[in-house]
Order: sequence, then C-alpha cells, then structure tokens
Amino acid sequence: DLYNFRQIGPDTKVHGVIGKPIGHSKSPHLYNAAFKSAGFNGIYLPLLVDSVSDFLTTYSSPDFVGYSYTIPHKEAGLKCCDEIDPVAKAIGAISCMIRRPDGKLMGYNVDYLGAIAAIEEALRATNGASNGSGSPLAGKLFVVIGAGGAGKALAYGGKEKGARVVVANRTYEKAKELANKVGGDAITLDELDDFHPEDGMILANTTSVGMKPNTDLTPISKKALSHYSLVFDAIYTPKWTRLLQEAQESGATVVFGTEMFINQAFVQFERFTGLPAPKEQIREVLARNT
Ligand code: ATR
Repeated sequence: DLYNFRQIGPDTKVHGVIGKPIGHSKSPHLYNAAFKSAGFNGIYLPLLVDSVSDFLTTYSSPDFVGYSYTIPHKEAGLKCCDEIDPVAKAIGAISCMIRRPDGKLMGYNVDYLGAIAAIEEALRATNGASNGSGSPLAGKLFVVIGAGGAGKALAYGGKEKGARVVVANRTYEKAKELANKVGGDAITLDELDDFHPEDGMILANTTSVGMKPNTDLTPISKKALSHYSLVFDAIYTPKWTRLLQEAQESGATVVFGTEMFINQAFVQFERFTGLPAPKEQIREVLARNT
C-alpha cells in the first residue's frame, strides 16, 4: 500500500515530485512511508511533467500543497514561484515548492544543504579530530562538475563554506557564468582530466553522466582521480556509479548521492508537514528501495 489509500479523503494534502523522466524516483516510497509513520494525512505522487507552468495552472487546488523538483525542471519551477527564498534566488533553481494557505507558491532550494552536509560529515570522519567550529571545506579546492540546478547549488554551498570553487562543465559559457557568481574559476569538461593544480581536492559530480542505464560512463578519467581526497556523486541510481567505484579504487573517500537525498528529504519533510522528520524511518525505506 504505497499510497496509504485507506486514509485518502477530503482533508488529504497532495504532494509530488515534478520531473521528466520520473519513473526511477524513490521519493514516492520515501515520503508516503514517512507521512504514514508521522501520522500526517498526506499523499506523494511521481509527476511526469512536460511544462511546469501548465501543470501548476491545471492543478491549482489548495489541497495540492507541496512539490519536489528534479531534472530538468528546477529552473522552470523557479519561474513559477510567487516568492523565492534568497538561496534559491542566488542559485537560480528550486528543489521544493510549497503552496501557502493564501495560494502563494513559495520556492526553496534545499539541495545544497543535503549535499554539503554529507560532504562535511565525511570530511570530519576522515580527518579524525574536528577542526573546531569551522567547516572542513574551508580553504579546500572544490571542483563541481555541471552548471545546472544541482551544480549551482553545490557551487554556492561550497562558496558559503569557504571553499575555493572550480566549475567544470560541458558548455564553457555556463561554467564561466556560475564561476563568476561564486568568485571561482571555470574549465570545460574536456580540461578536467588534466586539471590538477594540487592534491587533496574535493570533487562533486552533478551531471547525469553515469546515471542508469548509462552506467559505464564517467565524467573524469580514473588517472585524474588520484588528485582528489573526496568524491561525491549526486547520482543515486545506481548507488555505485563508475565514478565512485574508481574514486574508491584511487583511495578517495566516497559520498553517495543517497546521502544528499536523505539529508534534503529531512528538510523537505519538515517544510511539507511542519513536523520533525522520522529520520530512522526515512533511512530504512531508502535502504529497502535501493
Ligand atoms: P540539474 O538540475 O540536475 O543540475 P540540469 O539543470 O538539466 O539538471 O543540468 C544538467 C547538467 O548536466 C548541465 O551542467 C549539463 O551540461 P551542459 O550545461 O553542457 O548542458 C550536464 N550534462 C547533462 N548531460 C551531460 C552529458 N551527456 N555530458 C556532459 N554533461 C552533461
């Protein structure tokens, strides 16, 4: 009973994840189980959407209260908001949207919170003793592959933590634009294999390169990975992308896309329901469905 059908009624609050494709998403499993476990009368649907604005105009009922946004709609979603939080505005993309009781659509970006928290946690774990209250990302060279919604989120998050950000993207102009905004450098994806100004760099892939079904692809050569101490992949299907396998073989710490997803799920659940997230339950559901 994925959708808790027995409790659906006139008071049920409708949520969903807007994307294309959407069939691979674990979000419906996660949120429906979490709603149930928290005793929240809500439902969460996978929504295969072509046009975000057409969708939101069609489904404008006050009961449709919360949406998550995924590839390729995070930027289109932002354009449909009545109000946007400052982080989402700076990034130019939203990861979730809430319809307030007065009908206004509020846009947020919580992607970077989840990913950055996961990277910091892994760095603290490998560095042993914590370096006080400062971020372990501070002063590190942080290479972000991709300049779309997720790339922007990671680049802003890294900047906020005091990292030196480098954006590597297939389309150089987009890398340059983002790098300028965060006060970092830009390179093309083709230059990435030969880019190693120092060792111990941090790498984050935010492109779909390596995502199922193209699991033999990777955005960077294995040889170049020897210059990185930690590699994060935003892809979570599969869990072990070729990038993460090769990073581990090269001796780097790996951070799975699922960690970003779990951490942002906690935040989104709290925004959707106003209740504390059932964290153990959410981790369990994800473990069962991956
Ligand atoms: P998201 O919101 O998940 O970041 P997006 O906004 O559609 O998704 O951004 C996709 C990113 O992945 C972009 O940086 C894109 O590169 P371009 O700017 O050159 O389009 C990158 N990307 C997607 N497919 C790619 C591929 N096959 N090879 C390299 N980069 C790719």
